[in-house]
Amino acid sequence: MARNAIKVAIVGVGNCASAIYQGLTYYKGFTGDNIPGVMFAEIGGYKLDDIEVVAAFDVDARKVGLPIGQAIFQEPNCARVFAENVPDGPVVQMGEVLDGVSEYMQAEREDRGFRVADSPSVDVVKVLKDSGAQILINYLPVGSQKATEFYMQAAIDAGVAVVNCIPVFIASDPKWEQKFIDAKLPIIGDDMRSQVGASVLSQMLQELAFDRGAEVDFHQQINIGGNTDFNNMMVQSRLESKKKSKENVIRAQNDIRDIPLPKDSLFAGPSTFIPYLEDNKVAYLNVRLRGFGDAPITIDAKLSVQDSENSAGVVVDAIRYLQVAREMGMIGTINGPSAFTQKSPKYQMKFKDAMAECEAIADRQLTDVTKRENMFHGDAVESAKEKPALV
Ligand SMILES: NC(=O)c1ccc[n+]([C@@H]2O[C@H](COP(=O)([O-])OP(=O)(O)OC[C@H]3O[C@@H](n4cnc5c(N)ncnc54)[C@H](O)[C@@H]3O)[C@@H](O)[C@H]2O)c1
Repeated sequence: MARNAIKVAIVGVGNCASAIYQGLTYYKGFTGDNIPGVMFAEIGGYKLDDIEVVAAFDVDARKVGLPIGQAIFQEPNCARVFAENVPDGPVVQMGEVLDGVSEYMQAEREDRGFRVADSPSVDVVKVLKDSGAQILINYLPVGSQKATEFYMQAAIDAGVAVVNCIPVFIASDPKWEQKFIDAKLPIIGDDMRSQVGASVLSQMLQELAFDRGAEVDFHQQINIGGNTDFNNMMVQSRLESKKKSKENVIRAQNDIRDIPLPKDSLFAGPSTFIPYLEDNKVAYLNVRLRGFGDAPITIDAKLSVQDSENSAGVVVDAIRYLQVAREMGMIGTINGPSAFTQKSPKYQMKFKDAMAECEAIADRQLTDVTKRENMFHGDAVESAKEKPALV
């Protein structure tokens, strides 16, 4: 059966946008249940092929006015080029700058900083409506509080659902969640938890320790990288939300089990910007445990990834969960997929519980948790299972 595309708009055409846009070309035509590098070939009937980018916003003079298929390869983007012949796609429109661009990033050298275009900003709500976008992906720089709030309101006004990939707290903020509920829209957020990234690795180590009865005395996760995101976070005040969000992932595993977190026992955050690394992010983990008889156990791990592709591997799933959730009549924060794909969801879950919630949504089933914790539009709970999977 012909399937309607999931129409997506992107705000922030940086490295993450580059990776996902390239990925949509790279994976064109892949079939079968196992696609290398992809967690789920199909979610609720949707394949990667069903995702279509219909609008994009940025404020950098080198990107605004170019089709997204060209804008993603402009400086300061440095994500790996892994897809041949990406289509041009929609032209990148001038958004609202607000606090998206720091003085530090304006002053950085051409190939590492931002250069604000002097074009007038477009009517974002109108562009979203005219493009037919159903989902907006927020890829703004860390610290873009006002800019994020602006685009969130625009999404609400345009009737567009949101995947909030950054550590500005929206899906996990009751005030903002209520705005999405009032507009009968679903949202997944906040701050994506990459496919095989430092966050999920830290989570698994913390879970492993607890599941095997060990005490965790100390958990360190130091991250270094050379992409624009790491450079932007050289401004200490912008970095704080990211650190909080990264620590949330680890702290949550204590909270879920009611295990107190010892004082000064946790450090997780971006640590410095090393341009040579470009989009290669390296995380150093040191986890100190006490096992049977109080015996010390130490785990040292180094994780080296391509940061932006690692994020795209999760966002292609978040988009599909959100679309299915919307078709099921779910509104507000979608809890299972938020816990699975984001560092700072409204409710943190154990990995296996978040995964089970996601699988249920992919099967268009309602779990007890979903019925209890999620909001539904009108009488959607009763009719969700009967709703046609495809529009
Ligand atoms: N693995 C990952 O890469 C990962 C994981 C989790 C979260 N994130 C978050 O995702 C976000 C995007 O990451 P990235 O690596 O693509 O960042 P990036 O710096 O490469 O891209 C940000 C883009 O936003 C644009 N921008 C700035 N202000 C704007 C405004 N007001 N309106 C529209 N566009 C604006 C910039 O010009 C740039 O193109 C960051 O907040 C990052 O922390 C990334």
